Amino acid sequence: MDYLEIKGNAKLQGSINISGAKNAALPLLAATLLSKNDVQINNVPNVEDIKTLLTLLEHLGANYSFKNNAVSINLANLNSACANYDIVRKMRASILTLGPLLARFGQCEVSMPGGCAIGQRPINLHLKALEQMGAKIDIKQGYVVASAPDGLKANTIVFDKITVTGSENLIMAASLAKGTTKLLNVAKEPEVVNLCQFLANSGVNIKGIGTDELEIDGTNGDLLELEPIEVIPDRIEAGTYLCAGAITNSQITLKNLCTEHLASVIAKLEKMGFSLEKQESSLTIFPAKIINPADIETAEYPGFPTDMQAQFMALCTQANGVSVIDERLFENRFMHVAELIRMGANIKLSGHSATIEGGFLNSADVMATDLRASSALVLAALVANGTTKVHRIYHLDRGYENLEGKLLALGADIKRLKE
Ligand code: EPU
Repeated sequence: MDYLEIKGNAKLQGSINISGAKNAALPLLAATLLSKNDVQINNVPNVEDIKTLLTLLEHLGANYSFKNNAVSINLANLNSACANYDIVRKMRASILTLGPLLARFGQCEVSMPGGCAIGQRPINLHLKALEQMGAKIDIKQGYVVASAPDGLKANTIVFDKITVTGSENLIMAASLAKGTTKLLNVAKEPEVVNLCQFLANSGVNIKGIGTDELEIDGTNGDLLELEPIEVIPDRIEAGTYLCAGAITNSQITLKNLCTEHLASVIAKLEKMGFSLEKQESSLTIFPAKIINPADIETAEYPGFPTDMQAQFMALCTQANGVSVIDERLFENRFMHVAELIRMGANIKLSGHSATIEGGFLNSADVMATDLRASSALVLAALVANGTTKVHRIYHLDRGYENLEGKLLALGADIKRLKE
């Protein structure tokens, strides 16, 4: 197993490119299951979660090539509608195959993804919405067994709670359904918009893209001819590197990003005392005179992303005063707290709220627990006194392309070593 060794008290400088968004590429890849032709997806990040989904598509009978961040995928020989446990257990986002498999084959079996470190993460809203479109759903031996022998039928679906992958599953299912499906209280995340644009560019009539109400004219079972698509820049990767600049109080520039998608993150950094300068598709962060404490509450887009909560917690350890972070989306997304405390952070937890008093961090051996928690530990290591070892970095490899290469390019002293 690999671990990272990171020297603290770092000063960063220079610029790096932001990769394509993992959470946008995953639904785009799942949507290829709706296609009758070969599909090309560009700007796909070379990370483990993407490779896992490609392996799952291969098990279903797809052929693909993945070179230079471009995926070409051929679905002519799709011959299975069963997403098996061995692959799904590696990545919850495999549930994204449920909607398109059911829409394409009229039946499918997808292993239940199970809980994960950040919470229980049920899929009840995905299942309820598919049932409202006429699917019959049973849970058998850990699998979602779904069937709609006469095809999925349009309906008006109101999501009780905003769900990103739930919205994506239903958008894909509705694209092949009979009639016009209305989806209300849909997630507005840029990744959902990227999926809608993929389908709309390929002839699916979707009204309301980017809003929380969508109207989708289904094709009544006809497969789509999907046009090539570009994955949007990864706003969470960009936000993580902005925090790297901020926590080391350095000037760095990020290229190939979409600043619009980062509005809530940029606003928080500005409130904390950092100045940021936007150029066309790049963004520079400048050091703060004093790092102010923050008051953060996670929310659905365009609110402050839960996927940036851990990184901001690391940053708050360097603030001049007491910060408060409220995690509103996931019940157990504070696994990084115990590790940050091992590095000397002064953090108190009470329910879904964390209070962080700024101070110094010291190096330690720390353990990554989930993807974003891992990146928070890397950020903390950059500013700690001494050399920190971050173990179990397979979590990082799931979602950050070439993390240590990018940090090295910014001047960090970081090494990937074997346990
Ligand atoms: N929820 C339900 N029932 C459902 C679905 C969701 O109760 O059927 C609840 C969840 O338990 C949670 C809330 O609704 O409390 C929101 O969950 P959501 O379904 O939106 O999360 P997700 O679709 O499983 C995606 C991202 C996550 C990101 C969340 C929130 C992908 C592949 N994953 O997950 O990304 O944290 O949205 O923005 O898009 C990550 O990249 O590290 C990551 C965890």
